[in-house]
Amino acid sequence: MKTLIAFYSRADENYMAGRLEMLKVGNTEVVAEKLQKIAGGELFKIEQVMPYSKGYNDCVEEAKNDQRRNARPELTHYPDSIDDYDVIYLGYPNYWGTMPMAVFTFLEHFDFSGKIIKPFCTHEGSGLGNSVRDIKKLCPNAEVKKGLAIHGSNASRSDEQLEEWR
Ligand SMILES: Cc1cc2nc3c(=O)[nH]c(=O)nc-3n(C[C@H](O)[C@H](O)[C@H](O)COP(=O)(O)O)c2cc1C
Repeated sequence: MKTLIAFYSRADENYMAGRLEMLKVGNTEVVAEKLQKIAGGELFKIEQVMPYSKGYNDCVEEAKNDQRRNARPELTHYPDSIDDYDVIYLGYPNYWGTMPMAVFTFLEHFDFSGKIIKPFCTHEGSGLGNSVRDIKKLCPNAEVKKGLAIHGSNASRSDEQLEEWR
């Protein structure tokens, strides 16, 4: 079984437990790296050609605008192929109840038929929201497993949750 851990994550300014902080590594990236240690597999970071702003408020405006117009932000690169992967862990932050639009771009780029998708998200209170439903819509012929939601401020302490879920 070959495993891919594809994730979207934004460092820079973000709310952590009610306070604005400058993060060097985004919460979802912290979790993705832990997951790789636990479950193995290859990491792939989903990145936009035009990243959102470093400042939290500007980022919120830009991301909201992309979500409103159902945008598909262009990505900098993709894995050459997903043919060899049986299991794809998909990680992302919760942005208003679903995934950042760049993750929609990623999911639409490949045919996930017959793949197992295991979604995990980090959030500040909304859990997985509608993200799993949206993944199922975008990848109708994939087997989408139960998702895992990790509170952003617990990202660095998520080992046990990951062990249980994976
Ligand atoms: C643009 C934006 C929208 C967000 N919307 C939500 C939301 O609707 N619900 C929620 O629980 N958290 C929301 N958050 C918080 C993030 O999901 C949370 O901080 C996450 O851990 C960030 O992951 P990252 O550091 O990997 O990007 C939002 C954050 C941003 C920047």
